[in-house]
Amino acid sequence: MPRRISDEMIANICDENDIIDYVSQYVQLKKSGRDYSGLCPFHGEKTPSFHVSQEKQLFHCFGCGASGNLVQFVMRTENLDFIDSLKLLADRAGIIIPDNDDSFSDVNHEKKKRILEMNKYSARFFYNCLKDTSIGEKGQKYFVKRNIPLKTITVYGLGYAPDSRDSLIKHLNEKGFKTDEIVEAGLAVRRDGRIYDKFRDRVMFPIIDVRGNVIGFGGRIMHENKEINGYKIPKYLNSPETLVFDKGKNLFSLNLAKNAKANELILCEGYMDVISVYQAGIKNIVATLGTAITENQAKLMLRYANEILICYDSDEAGTKAALRAIDIISEAGGRSRVIRLKNSKDPDEYINKNGIEKFREAVKKSVPATEFKISLIRNQYDLTNTDGKILFIDEVVNIFTKIKDAVEVDAYITKVAEDTGISRNAILSKYKEKTSKGSYRRIPSKTEYQKKNEQKKQNAIKKNIATGSLLEAEKRLMGLISQSKKLYKSVCDKIQPDEFSTDVYRRLAKAVYDSYQNDISPDPAMLLNMFSGDDISEASAVFYNLEVYSEDEATVRELLYTIKLEKLDIRINSETNAAALAELFAEREKVLEEKNTWEE
Ligand code: GTP
Ligand code: MN
Repeated sequence: MPRRISDEMIANICDENDIIDYVSQYVQLKKSGRDYSGLCPFHGEKTPSFHVSQEKQLFHCFGCGASGNLVQFVMRTENLDFIDSLKLLADRAGIIIPDNDDSFSDVNHEKKKRILEMNKYSARFFYNCLKDTSIGEKGQKYFVKRNIPLKTITVYGLGYAPDSRDSLIKHLNEKGFKTDEIVEAGLAVRRDGRIYDKFRDRVMFPIIDVRGNVIGFGGRIMHENKEINGYKIPKYLNSPETLVFDKGKNLFSLNLAKNAKANELILCEGYMDVISVYQAGIKNIVATLGTAITENQAKLMLRYANEILICYDSDEAGTKAALRAIDIISEAGGRSRVIRLKNSKDPDEYINKNGIEKFREAVKKSVPATEFKISLIRNQYDLTNTDGKILFIDEVVNIFTKIKDAVEVDAYITKVAEDTGISRNAILSKYKEKTSKGSYRRIPSKTEYQKKNEQKKQNAIKKNIATGSLLEAEKRLMGLISQSKKLYKSVCDKIQPDEFSTDVYRRLAKAVYDSYQNDISPDPAMLLNMFSGDDISEASAVFYNLEVYSEDEATVRELLYTIKLEKLDIRINSETNAAALAELFAEREKVLEEKNTWEE
């Protein structure tokens, strides 16, 4: 459930932050005319084409087209989503965002804040215990054994939880937290009427979200013996789910990995795997939190990377988990590859045995998800006999039927044919047989058919409409009316929001019109918050044209005529019916005449 933050709150946050002030952290800005300008942070350039307007609170690069408001600048530079960017700006301005949805009621908000505070104190406590040799020597020795130097301990804030019943509880009590709260934060447990520290005699891995909050912990025993006095003890103990800790929605080390700004993100299973790879210099790596990967986690990763490189343990469980990860990532709309490590259980062991360069090579040799699936199936069958071949082809083709891209299917058919010596035709006919079976296309009902046709026509018109002069006229018109109520009034009964040619313009126009109707001057930076992706640039360009602003009604009328005539031309070009065509021509004459009289 995306959280809602009210428009007032968004406005408030934007008011309390200045775009010039913020952007100056990244770009050396110089005053130039009404704007500030500098070298664009989003593309390499030698002469400044990046402009920031204090008045409009917008940025725009005339070189690469990057454009938007302050929130959108934060989204791009910090790799955060809209809500998280707003939160960052709110934090910066000392604003607390009240939560209006149920799970974020005031009470919960206060509780969440307390848990995050407790977590922060606990992380510091564990860290200090580790550094204090009289308490943490065992932990220190363990990390030395695992090749984790002090520097890494600091980067990850690793720690040691003392072998004591209640040292953390006492510490937090001293900081003003009640024992009940500590239990609710998952840092203590109640057993047989007594209360204990949850983590005892373990090395500690804090789990930190992309905003830098400590949301939970993982703690590892320092030996391989998982039984003490007949009691089974888990190797890793993770914090339970709390108000701030959802294991299916966060990833270990994503806070560090996101700063690598790489196209790929490596996904592995263990905290130690991530840490080993990270300290060797490959920083775009994360791990799940002791559970199987969820679609939420896949989506989260895909916010920061185009492709996920799965690097799971090489045993059977790891392979099965990798297959599941492939499907989940694909369901989340992403692509994945698989990194295979020979002769090692997991990435940590692999690096310690073979070094980072060998790991880099393995990353380079990662195979596309489909290829990985095919190779697994291949190992199951004996391709030297006919039965084996038939069964193999049957399974492989099942995979092909799930691939959406026909070119990709074709390429894989060729590859499998080459690798196995089975004829291309045999595989292809099996594929055709499977894709036609059970996947009959439904005959659309008449209304659906009509709707589709209508849609097609509309699309064609829209496509045609996307010609330079019409769009340019609409863009200038929108720019002008958004800056002047007087101009808006002279336009609002002549063109309606839904008459603009692109979806972005229609939405923008509607918002501008709504604003004026509520007696509010439209605020460009606020209006841009409605958009995401490429739409931001399209919308932002409306406010950032080079036209010198003037309350010029003549320009507006001229633009209205241009729009009218361009639209008529588009209809004329696609009309095939003679009578209708004649009518369109007549209308065009009329508009031209009107325009001429007006000009005289
Ligand atoms: P090392 O033995 O320290 O190298 O651990 P690893 O990171 O290689 O761990 P492993 O492959 O055994 O497990 C991967 C991940 O699963 C860990 O990082 C934990 O998040 C989780 N995990 C492992 N063992 C347990 C356990 O006993 N209980 C729980 N809840 N999670 C575990
Ligand atoms: Mn390991």
